[in-house]
Amino acid sequence: ASTLRALAKRTGVRIGTAVDMAALADDTTYRERVAAEFNSVTAENVMKWQFLEPERGVSDFAAADELVDFARRNGQQVRGHTLLWHNQNPAWLTSGVNSGEIDAAELRQILRQHIYTVAGHFRGKVYGWDVVNEVIDDNGNLRDTFWLRMLGPGYIADAFRWAHQADPKAKLYLNDYNVEGINAKSTKYFELAKQLRKDGVPVHGFGMQGHLGVQYGFDGTALDNVLRFEKLGLETAFTEVDVRMILPVDNPKLQAQAAGYTLLLQACLLAKRCVSFTVWGFTDKYSWVPGFFSGQGAANLLDENFAPKPAYQAVSNSLTLA
Ligand code: G3I
Repeated sequence: ASTLRALAKRTGVRIGTAVDMAALADDTTYRERVAAEFNSVTAENVMKWQFLEPERGVSDFAAADELVDFARRNGQQVRGHTLLWHNQNPAWLTSGVNSGEIDAAELRQILRQHIYTVAGHFRGKVYGWDVVNEVIDDNGNLRDTFWLRMLGPGYIADAFRWAHQADPKAKLYLNDYNVEGINAKSTKYFELAKQLRKDGVPVHGFGMQGHLGVQYGFDGTALDNVLRFEKLGLETAFTEVDVRMILPVDNPKLQAQAAGYTLLLQACLLAKRCVSFTVWGFTDKYSWVPGFFSGQGAANLLDENFAPKPAYQAVSNSLTLA
C-alpha cells in the first residue's frame, strides 16, 4: 500500500505530524514511520518558548535544530509552532510577570526579542509560524492572558509585524482549537483576520487545530468555514488533528473517529488554499490526550503497536480519491 505522503503528493495538500523528540530518538519504528508517512512536521513541544529559552538570555536550539535536520534529510517541510502562547512559557518569564519584576514596557521588549531571535534562527528553515496560538477564548473574546492584560490587544499585530521582519518569507498564522466549524470563536477570528489584513498586518494563514472528540459529534460547517477565511485572502491549514474517544475503544467509536478525520481532510481537499493537514501525533503510543483528559484516548491514526486503524484507512482513501 502507498504511504500517506505518496498519496498526498498529487493533491497539493501536505500531510504532516507533530513530532515527539523523545520518541524520535528512542523508538526506531516511530522514527521510520515519521519519515515514511509524512512530508511535513511540527515540533510537538521543542519550538515552544519554555524549551528555547529555559534561562533568560540563553537560547537552546539543540532539540529544535535536530528536528529541522531530520526534516531536511527526509524531504519534509517544517511548521513552526509557536512564537507566542499563554502556556509553556519559561518559568523566569511567568514568575517575572507575576511578581511584577517585569513591567509592561519590558515585557514588550522581551516578546520582540524572542520573536526576532527565534524567527531569525529558523529563517529559511521553516515554512511558516503559528505566530499567536489560542488568543481567543471559546466565547469569542480575546483570551484573558498576561499578554492581553499587560500589552493590550495590539500585541497580536505587533507579533505578526515582528515575525515578518525577522523572516519575510515565512507564512504567518493565527492558530486555535474549536475553530473548525462556524461558531462564535471562529467568527471572532474571521473579524480579527479581516481587521488585521485591512491594517496591512502581515497575516497569511488561518490554522485550525482540529482536536475533536467522537463523543461530541462533528460540525458539518468545516468547509464553509475554511472557504470564508480563504475569501479574505488567507491560506488555511489543519494543524493538530486528532479525534479522541472515551475509552474503551470499540468498533462504532473507531468508525466515528474515521468520519471525524475524513470531515476535516475533505474540507481541506475541497478548499482552494488549504496547504496542509497535520495530525497531532500519529500513534496512540505517544499522545497528549490520556494525560489531559482522563478516561479518554486512542485519538490517532495508528494504535499503540503502529497498526492502522479505520481512521488511517479513511485518510488514505480520501487522499487516493482526491
Ligand atoms: O519537559 C518536561 C519534563 O522535563 C518533565 O519530566 C515532564 C514530567 O511531566 O514534563 C515535561 O513537560 C511536558 C511537556 O508536554 C513536554 O513533554 C508537560 O508536562 C506537558 O504538560 C506538555 O504537554 C504538552 C501540551 O501541549 C502543553 O500544554 C503536550 O505534549 C502537547 O501535545 C500539547 O500541545 C498543544 C499544542 O501545543 C497547542 N494546541 C493544543 C495541544 C494539545 O494540548
